[in-house]
Amino acid sequence: MKPANPQTAAARLKKFSPLRPTLAIVLGSGFHHALTELRVDQKLAYARIPGFPKPTVSGHAGELYFGHLGGTPVLVLSGRAHFYEGHAMDRVTFATRTLAAFGVTDLLLTNAAGGLNKHFHAGDFMVLTDHINFMGTNPLRGSAIPGLMRFVDLTDTYDAELRRLLSQAATACKLKIRSGVYLAVSGPSYETPAEIRAFARLGADAVGMSTVPEAIAARQCGLNVAAVSCITNLAAGISKDKLSHTEVLETAERVKTSGAQLIRNFAELYGELKIKN
Ligand code: HPA
Repeated sequence: MKPANPQTAAARLKKFSPLRPTLAIVLGSGFHHALTELRVDQKLAYARIPGFPKPTVSGHAGELYFGHLGGTPVLVLSGRAHFYEGHAMDRVTFATRTLAAFGVTDLLLTNAAGGLNKHFHAGDFMVLTDHINFMGTNPLRGSAIPGLMRFVDLTDTYDAELRRLLSQAATACKLKIRSGVYLAVSGPSYETPAEIRAFARLGADAVGMSTVPEAIAARQCGLNVAAVSCITNLAAGISKDKLSHTEVLETAERVKTSGAQLIRNFAELYGELKIKN
């Protein structure tokens, strides 16, 4: 079988709807409730988009939406392919490359993460200022892609203007928002307490199993990126309790309304900014 091509997938999306949003949002655990705020124009199962992997994690639906969020046209991806599911990195980043080929210019990535920063609590939200890629591989490894940079600069991975919009979006719903460095591991096991102590020394504020591959691929494609974590638990050894996916899902459920409002407000502010510029 011929390898999937993001251009082909993007062409399929364009046939599906006349809407041409410049903003795309990837919903991770803790953020799916944002769909309740979305005025849906069209919904498309990932299975119908050539090259999109089928998510296998519960709580990750695998659907792409065309719609309006806070009045702004958006593409919303409910669910993502994770590296720990066994996908190769080109599959993990396929949706991101499709979005770029479609014509999206700005990408908001959301995820669930464990908190390392002593000031964080379960249920907090954190805007990513930077990341540490501890996944043991790089999504750009492999043959060079014609027309795209081989050695991508990651100095400003997370766009300052989009980060400012996230802060404003939080203020608008009276949500105290944290900021910090996200460290990505491959998973799927949670970390040991010794690893968490080491990561804290490295400068990480939160740890998770996604987002970084997409952010790197997006930067290679020239997209502006922003990312936000729902701190669903304190990381191993910081919390007295053992870690479980159930706790992650329970916290995500508890703060789902805040997460949804944050994303909605962000989309609205983004739309206002686009009109001004
Ligand atoms: N570690 C890694 N990934 C996670 C965590 C964690 O503690 N919580 C949610 N995703």
